[in-house]
Amino acid sequence: TLSLGRQVPEPFTDDEVRLLEATADQIGIALENARLYSELRRQLEELQRTHAQLIHAEKLAAIGELASGVAHEINSPLTTILGEVQLLAMGPVSDDVRARLRVIAEESGRAARIVQNLLLFARSYPPERRPCLLANQITRVLDLKVYQLQLDGIHVVKDFLPAPPVWADENQIQQVLLNLVQNAHQAMKSAHDKGVLTVRLHREAGGVHVEVLDDGPGIPPEHLERIFDPFYTTKPVGEGSGLGLPVSQGIVSEHGGRVWAENRPGGGAAFHLVLPVGGPGPVVEAPRELPLPTRPLRVLLVEDERRVADVLANLLKSLGHTAEVALGGRQALERIVDNQYDVVFVDLKMPEMDGRAFWQELVARDSPLARHTIFMTGNPRSLEALADEKAGTPLLAKPFTVPELSAVLRAATSAG
Ligand SMILES: Nc1ncnc2c1ncn2[C@@H]1O[C@H](COP(=O)(O)OP(=O)(O)OP(=O)(O)O)[C@@H](O)[C@H]1O
Ligand SMILES: [Mg+2]
Repeated sequence: TLSLGRQVPEPFTDDEVRLLEATADQIGIALENARLYSELRRQLEELQRTHAQLIHAEKLAAIGELASGVAHEINSPLTTILGEVQLLAMGPVSDDVRARLRVIAEESGRAARIVQNLLLFARSYPPERRPCLLANQITRVLDLKVYQLQLDGIHVVKDFLPAPPVWADENQIQQVLLNLVQNAHQAMKSAHDKGVLTVRLHREAGGVHVEVLDDGPGIPPEHLERIFDPFYTTKPVGEGSGLGLPVSQGIVSEHGGRVWAENRPGGGAAFHLVLPVGGPGPVVEAPRELPLPTRPLRVLLVEDERRVADVLANLLKSLGHTAEVALGGRQALERIVDNQYDVVFVDLKMPEMDGRAFWQELVARDSPLARHTIFMTGNPRSLEALADEKAGTPLLAKPFTVPELSAVLRAATSAG
C-alpha cells in the first residue's frame, strides 16, 4: 500500500508511482464531475429563472397587445358618440338639452381617458408632460404604500426642501418612485423585518433631486453595475422580475434625467433621481374658439367604419367644408384620379389597404395630396410605427373634439 507520510528518503517504486497516478486520475475525475454537476445545476436554475422571466415578459406584451386592440375598438364608437353630441350641440337646442349634451361629452371624454390609462399601464402611450411637483408625487406614492409599510414595521421619514416643479408625466414618475420604494421595502423586510425609509427632496443646479434611502442590506458592490439591467434580479422566481429598475431608468432618461444607486456609508442602499426643471417647449394647443375656415376645403375621408366616416363628414360640413367618403384605400385612390381634393383624412387601420400603404401609394404617384394627408387613429401605438417615416404629419387621435379637428385641418393645409 501507499503511505504518503513516509519518512524514509527512498525513491518511490514504479508500482507506487503508478498507484499514485491512478489515484490522482480518480480524484481529478471526481472533482471534474462535481464541477460539472454544480455547473449543470447552475444552468438549470438559470434556465428556470429565464423561463419565468420570459413568461412574465410575454404576459406584459400580451397586456400591451390587448390594451391597444381594445383602445382601437372603443375609440371608434367614442368618436361617433362625441361627434354626434357636438353636432347636436351646434344646433338650436334648449339650455337644458345643451347641459345634458355636455354631460355626455364629458363622460365620453372620461371613457377615452380610461383607455389611455390602460395604454399607459402597458407602456405604449407617449408621455403627457406637465409641470409636476415631485413632493406631491412622492406623497401620493407613500400614501399608496402606507398600510403595507406600517404592517412590516417600516417607519417613513420625509425630508422635503422647497423645489420648483419639473416637466414630467405624473403617472410615469409615480411608477418610478413606486419601484424605488418597493425595492427599499422588500430589501428591509427581507433583511430584518423592520426599518426606516427616508425620502429626501431638494433643489440643486441640475434640477430637482430625490433620494430614496433604506437601512437594508445594501447592494454588493459587484452588483451595482448590473441592477439596472433588464431581468437582473436577486429575488426568488415569482417575487421579482428584474424589470423595476430598467423600466424606471427608461422613464427617467426619456425625461432627460438621471437615476443611480449607491451604498450608504452606515449601511443600506441609496437611490438618487434627478429630473431637470425644464419647462415645456412652445405648446401647440387646440384653439378654444372655432377658427373661421380660411376657405372651404374639399375633403376626402378614407375610413372603413361608416358611422365614424359619417359623423366626421358632418362635422367638416358644419365647419363649411365639403366631404366625400371612401370606405377603403383602393376606392379612395380611384376617386383621386378624377377629383380634386385639398385634404385627405385616412384611418391608419383598415382591412384591405391600411393608411400607411395608402399614403405610400400617394407618394409613389407623386400626388400633392401626400403633403396634405391627415392620419387618424384610435390606437396611439400605431403612431410609433409611423414616426420615423413621416414626422410632423398632422394626426387626429380618436375620439376628437371640433377644436382639435379645426387645428389639424389648419396644420394640414398650411403644410407646403
Ligand atoms: N433598495 C435596495 N436594496 C438592496 N438591493 C436592491 C435595492 N433595490 C434594488 N436592489 C437590487 O436590484 C435588483 C433589481 O431591482 P429591480 O427593481 O430592477 O428588480 P426586482 O425588484 O428584482 O424585480 P421587480 O422590480 O421587477 O419586481 C434587485 O433584485 C435587488 O437585488
Ligand atoms: Mg423592483
